[in-house]
Amino acid sequence: MAAAVCHADQATVLRARVVSHDEVASGTWRIRLDCPAIAARAIPGQFAMLRLAGRSDPLLARPFAVYDVFSDGIEPRYADFVYTVHGKFTQAVTETRPGDELLAWGPLGNGFEPPATEHLLLVAGGIGQTALLALARERLGMASYGAPGRDAPRAGRVTFCWGARTAASFACTDDFRRAGCDVHLATLDGSAGTRGTVVDLLEARFATGIDAAATRIACCGPEPMMEAVAGWASARRVPCEVSLETPMACGVGICFTCVARIRDEDGGWDYRRTCVEGPVFDAARVVW
Ligand SMILES: Cc1cc2nc3c(=O)[nH]c(=O)nc-3n(C[C@H](O)[C@H](O)[C@H](O)COP(=O)(O)OP(=O)(O)OC[C@H]3O[C@@H](n4cnc5c(N)ncnc54)[C@H](O)[C@@H]3O)c2cc1C
Ligand code: FES
Repeated sequence: MAAAVCHADQATVLRARVVSHDEVASGTWRIRLDCPAIAARAIPGQFAMLRLAGRSDPLLARPFAVYDVFSDGIEPRYADFVYTVHGKFTQAVTETRPGDELLAWGPLGNGFEPPATEHLLLVAGGIGQTALLALARERLGMASYGAPGRDAPRAGRVTFCWGARTAASFACTDDFRRAGCDVHLATLDGSAGTRGTVVDLLEARFATGIDAAATRIACCGPEPMMEAVAGWASARRVPCEVSLETPMACGVGICFTCVARIRDEDGGWDYRRTCVEGPVFDAARVVW
């Protein structure tokens, strides 16, 4: 279990200029922020807290996965975030334009640390893909993340299975193809890919002869979907990590709004703060 106590040293609030901001799918936006302190240090699966500058409504910042980072030609400087419009914050942030500023602190959380694996299977539901692109790029040798850039083990191949309600929900799918992933989609209405849930898609992929012993799963999405994927993985003895999306207030370990029930070594469980001891947990440890 991660020993993180608090990320207060990462809580320096930055003023991050909006560099670009575009609607990339129905109700889904991609925003690029000029924030070198986050871009240079973020590793796959970490997140930042974002808040509107000069406004107190909504009062609390919201957590967003660092989707990817970009350099200004010399060093990492820009961080991209991809979000769907849910409520107050995400509705208000759609109105920001290049040149406006957001308040941001991060990078936060533990990020993905899966051991070396021949086959990395990324599984996303809804907007959960945002936690997984950098991991794919890192494990396929397309990019390195963190300061200094960490030396992550390469995966022989990366498969990306993504489930959503309808085809219009998929945003920036080509980012995963360009990274070198084998991309498979599922939609509940059958408008793209396999008709059904992402678990139906996993079942279909495994029917093609995927070797469970050589595979690890990294998963992010709505909680019921992650629970279903965790159960599916457990039944096939495929190690699975999940990135939990619990609501958060501080993001740095102080307020305890983000707790999840996580099993201890001895089989009992205790509350763990998703912001500092997660958001990535071994799926077998999560009490759903
Ligand atoms: C580590 C982490 C990374 C995240 N990364 C992203 C990301 O990259 N892109 C993205 O779009 N979102 C992401 N989220 C989720 C995002 O932070 C929340 O959806 C946030 O509450 C949106 O703010 P809002 O003010 O627009 O909506 P809110 O007003 O906060 O919520 C609107 C509605 O959604 C419900 N809701 C809010 N949060 C959740 C949740 N986590 N699970 C289920 N229902 C919820 C509320 O109950 C309410 O009904 C992430 C969350 C975490 C913890
Ligand atoms: S969000 Fe405050 S302790 Fe996790």
